[in-house]
Amino acid sequence: MTLVGSGAIERAAAIGAVDRRLFGSFVEHMGRSVYTGIFEPSHPTATPDGFRGDVLELVRELGVTIVRYPGGNFVSGYRWEDGVGAIADRPVRLNLAWHTLEPNRFGTDEFVRWCAQAGVEPMLAVNLGTRGVQEAVDLLEYANHPSGTALSDARIANGSPTRHRIRMWCLGNEMDGHWQLGHKTAAEYGRLAAETARAMRQLDPGVELVAVGSSGPWMPTYVEWERTVLRETAELIDAISLHNYYQEDPSDVASFLASAVDLDRFIERVSEVVDEFASARGQGQPVKLSVDEWNVSRSNGAPLPADWTVVERMGEEAYTAADAVVVGSLLISLVRHADRVASACLAQLVNVIAPIRAEPDGPAWRQTTFHPFSLAARHARGQALAVPITVGTLPTAKYGDVAPVDAVATVDDETRSLALFVVNRHPTEAVDLTLDLRSWSEELSLGESLVVHEDDPQAVNTAAEPDRVIPRPLTGVSLVDGCLRLSLAAISWSTTTIELGRSR
Ligand code: AHR
Repeated sequence: MTLVGSGAIERAAAIGAVDRRLFGSFVEHMGRSVYTGIFEPSHPTATPDGFRGDVLELVRELGVTIVRYPGGNFVSGYRWEDGVGAIADRPVRLNLAWHTLEPNRFGTDEFVRWCAQAGVEPMLAVNLGTRGVQEAVDLLEYANHPSGTALSDARIANGSPTRHRIRMWCLGNEMDGHWQLGHKTAAEYGRLAAETARAMRQLDPGVELVAVGSSGPWMPTYVEWERTVLRETAELIDAISLHNYYQEDPSDVASFLASAVDLDRFIERVSEVVDEFASARGQGQPVKLSVDEWNVSRSNGAPLPADWTVVERMGEEAYTAADAVVVGSLLISLVRHADRVASACLAQLVNVIAPIRAEPDGPAWRQTTFHPFSLAARHARGQALAVPITVGTLPTAKYGDVAPVDAVATVDDETRSLALFVVNRHPTEAVDLTLDLRSWSEELSLGESLVVHEDDPQAVNTAAEPDRVIPRPLTGVSLVDGCLRLSLAAISWSTTTIELGRSR
């Protein structure tokens, strides 16, 4: 049975400007994310800095705008000083978060250099687990102070004469979690985050600071954590973080496909709490949200390696076509909340639960999830527009009745283009969708329509078959008399662009 849906795309449904930082990602010292992921000096494509050239090319193609580093759980035991200076002098340490050895051959300066080559903005996290205010301020001085102090001069001596000018800083990572080194209560963390924020702003008033929110809406401390942390930090920070990973339960595919409903609710609930503190801020602008870890993942909770070795394979998931559809649908949720979400990081970037895979001394390839991300990063520009759709309901065990089709659009008046992102998250039924665009005063012409869908939703990309799942032209699309018609297969995510012409 094919379902029939209808809706409209209207300029009047503007939500807010899409921040380019919505298309961020994350590199952690975990598994092969850094070593043999982005950094492999002996790789045939290595740059003079030892960065993998094939991975750099894919990162640029992915369209990532900002990358968070160096963790994640890793940062909560990290001594940033270990990762700067002459390589030969850098110590090997235990990476307690991931039970591996950390050789410190790649650190802050290498990361900033890598970001410049990848064309992305660096976003750093400070250790508020085993360390505190002083170490955070020291790292900020090392990175952002021009010269003439011990730490800024050390950076210069280490080969970075120009300050790094890092704008976005995370005040720790997942401090609400018992798995975190230096795990804290909300009150303990709130105080420490506030003191760190004050000190960092004293050094560099231009920094943008992200306080740690809940590690997921499933945390027992969720909401109370946000409230307590915001009580201490609301007037000192720019954003509060949200993390969540969505896992498929094979016996409940419908709920997995509808994961974005959970992200919608998470964003909306945290926004409500943030609004409780709007008056404390005084500038009228509520604290923004930084969804700085999100993805689909099956390997969360996997056992850690038994031995302490340097490079262990961790979280090297082969994402399916269905996973790509869910990632696309989570991106729709992020864009729809453009008024709240100032940045977001697909966790992670390479090898570890990542859109890019790279084998040591071997090839790099795009996972299925690469494709919706790169299409959204390319086309979701300008103003986000809500796209209400009527199409009946789909029952799910976790989220109740949800809409089988979800969509958002963006309009960019610079490039004069409109982009529609739409997911059919129904596990079995196709949908014929008609969208009314007659309210637009411009002449409209159909651009490109691409779909991520496979008849086998479990299809994956591998080193041997890297293009098994790619976006393909969406057939049967028409734009006639201001009505856009799309045929959406079950478990599909698509994007359609429309050029804006002269006013009619
Ligand atoms: O991305 C993997 C891990 O997931 C991160 O280190 C941590 O912050 C989260 O729990």
